[in-house]
Amino acid sequence: MQIFHSIQTLQNFLKLSRLEGKSVGLVPTMGALHQGHLSLIEASKNENQVTVCSIFVNPTQFNNAHDLAVYPRTLESDCEMLTSAGCDVVFAPTVEEIYPQLPNLKFDFGDLERVMEGTFRPGHFNGVGIVVSKLFNIVQPDGAYFGQKDLQQCAVINRLVKDLSFSLKLNICPTLRETDGLAMSSRNRNLSPEQRALAPHIYKALQKASQLLQEGTSGEAVKVAVQNYLSEIPAIALEYFEISNFDTLQPINELSEGKTALCIAAFMGKTRLIDNVIV
Ligand code: PAF
Repeated sequence: MQIFHSIQTLQNFLKLSRLEGKSVGLVPTMGALHQGHLSLIEASKNENQVTVCSIFVNPTQFNNAHDLAVYPRTLESDCEMLTSAGCDVVFAPTVEEIYPQLPNLKFDFGDLERVMEGTFRPGHFNGVGIVVSKLFNIVQPDGAYFGQKDLQQCAVINRLVKDLSFSLKLNICPTLRETDGLAMSSRNRNLSPEQRALAPHIYKALQKASQLLQEGTSGEAVKVAVQNYLSEIPAIALEYFEISNFDTLQPINELSEGKTALCIAAFMGKTRLIDNVIV
């Protein structure tokens, strides 16, 4: 596996791969990899001759200095995992390499970012839009692979690809879960053993909500049920629970015609976790 820290050396390598007619898949990550990331690598390997995994903790998407400071940085073990997974290339740039100067550019994803993560993490999707655009421009992949756990991020990137005419196939891959249901996340490793033991209740709350909605319970009542359920677990501080139209991500009060997304964000101590299920 090749590891590049500079844009130039990565691009030199990719140029040769393209001359050999190889297609390139990109898996953008912030490192602290888990099986969920490896499933994205596998999806890319199934469709491309070269898979690039970018590892970059992007400062412009963090609205919380503590979150950025404690975000796990584990490049060495990430590279070991990626080697075993058969990844071809790691692109691990420094902050200066990606941001020789901080961009003044501002993305506005409209209604898509006026809900949920966009409301609670102001500026987050602007930072995601900037870094993902940069990565797409740098790597020029044929396909890019993202996890459905970050559902709103997937919707925003889908819009970005269309609005900026990026010529690539966007692939959204299913959320991987631990055996107790907790969605895999790099942030899980910041949980204390006590918090980790209680964290699956976030997914249980989503499952309960899904069941109630399918039984015909109103959205308002489902929201109250989720709040009541989680209020029994003081270690979990609910930030939001939303019932949303899957395509627009706008709030709804009952199951929509198409798919409905149930989305949740909660703090366990200083660690913020998100999850969703699709009904
Ligand atoms: O989902 C993530 O890990 C990040 O938001 C991404 C897409 C790599 C951009 O920094």
